[in-house]
Amino acid sequence: MLIEVRATERLRGPKALDLTPVLAAVVQAVKDGAVDPARLRVVCDWVQYRENFREPVLLRPIIPSAFDAARATRNGSADDPAAYELALDLRRSGAIDLPQALGRALCPDHSLGRVYLEPWTRGSVSCIWKFNALFWKALPLWEQGVGRSYEQALPGGESDARNLAAARELILELFAIWDDLAARRALPDELYVLELGVGNGGQARAWLDEFRRLDRELGRDYYRRLHYLMGDYSPTVLERAREHVRDHLERLSCLVLDATRPSETLGFLRGKAFLVYISNVYDNLPTDEVVRIGGHLYQVQVRAYLPEAAARDLAEPLGRAPQDLSALAARLLRLGPELLADALPDCFPTSLAAVAFWRQVWQALRLEERYVPLEELDAYEVAPGIGGELLRPIVETNGDLRMHVGNGAAASFADTLPLLHPLGVLRCHDLFVTDVQQYASGFRGPGKYDGSVVNWVNGPLLAAIAGRRGYSIGFTPFAHRPGSHITTLTAQVRE
Ligand SMILES: C[S@@+](CC[C@H](N)C(=O)[O-])C[C@H]1O[C@@H](n2cnc3c(N)ncnc32)[C@H](O)[C@@H]1O
Repeated sequence: MLIEVRATERLRGPKALDLTPVLAAVVQAVKDGAVDPARLRVVCDWVQYRENFREPVLLRPIIPSAFDAARATRNGSADDPAAYELALDLRRSGAIDLPQALGRALCPDHSLGRVYLEPWTRGSVSCIWKFNALFWKALPLWEQGVGRSYEQALPGGESDARNLAAARELILELFAIWDDLAARRALPDELYVLELGVGNGGQARAWLDEFRRLDRELGRDYYRRLHYLMGDYSPTVLERAREHVRDHLERLSCLVLDATRPSETLGFLRGKAFLVYISNVYDNLPTDEVVRIGGHLYQVQVRAYLPEAAARDLAEPLGRAPQDLSALAARLLRLGPELLADALPDCFPTSLAAVAFWRQVWQALRLEERYVPLEELDAYEVAPGIGGELLRPIVETNGDLRMHVGNGAAASFADTLPLLHPLGVLRCHDLFVTDVQQYASGFRGPGKYDGSVVNWVNGPLLAAIAGRRGYSIGFTPFAHRPGSHITTLTAQVRE
């Protein structure tokens, strides 16, 4: 039996974790449990997100490959060839009755009473992404229900996107490029800047205010020629952002678009954008996860569910059976809280009552996980036009590891690069894994931020995409807030 501790940063120093009781409880539970230790591996994470999709202890079946299953049949083995991974969250292990939780996870009927919201599926198409999209679409109602703005739920209480020093640095870089082009009489009349995933417009406002100020101060005439395009898939978010930058309306265009397919809407921008700015969006885009165990590759499949007790508490006041919650949640995702309240006034007399239901479902929502063999990487698609083969060097040179694919980020990145002017820059502040080994030393998501999902982004995969397309890419720690986990990605045409 293998025990893997991924929270390595927490094993030393004055506040070092004491693993002894955790390991003792695991050993005892295995002794008493129904799972053969020869087919069990144990992984311990520190899940830093207070709101997340995991119980403190969970069991993941590792589905045997067709080859292993056939061999077991050929050998006439009566044994179930399935293996298991027992996953523990060390952050919560001291706050629960660990022996009881372990005993329950290892018992065959541990999932009884759960209300499933979807069938098994790969992570990027789980219903959690519909909840995520609903959050941005119905943001004002959610905020009304919670009584605070979404930005207050972020670490530090505000987004780094508003950081003035970072904005100034970027604007001066642009001015230098434009000065140079102007000197050669090669500066186009229209100076395009694109922002994807605009949030409340705080970044756009800080950036445009600073742009106009520097333009005046340095005696350029670039502001008049600037076209600032804001793209987001939520019309509500766009409207709010637009309000926030109303001072710059003449320079602004707002476009409803999917950040994973920007060129669908922005075809006219091909080769023209001097800057594409994206902050905290890639970590909010759908992703699969893959895991390598004993040299074999598996896809992580998930199945969203509501735990038995939470489902009972949710259903009772509505006068419904727990099993009805699956249909109610699907209706919420289809209609949104306002129309749900219109459609079912007996359950939800007001929109805010529907929002309260939404928040409770989201808070209770957990993901079951299982590992399914991924035998043919070339048949797997990372994103449109990006085959799974691109993953091979990453998964094959890093040993046994679980990691995100970052499908949404990969799609967005690959589809945005062609929009860049030959001297243009794509600048992205986000939570990046820059060395795949970082997956072995810390938990990288998914977590919940308010009603949205957060996952770290697989930087080496984006680097591989950039390399194949003739772009250079660099990752640097976000320089303008000490202690920030944010990394800055810069991509531009390779010289
Ligand atoms: C976490 S917020 C970041 C806001 C802002 N850039 C910041 O750094 O504070 C994510 C933003 O991306 C948008 N978004 C998420 N997924 C998207 C998608 N597939 N297409 C377009 N916009 C998306 C959301 O509506 C939201 O405005």
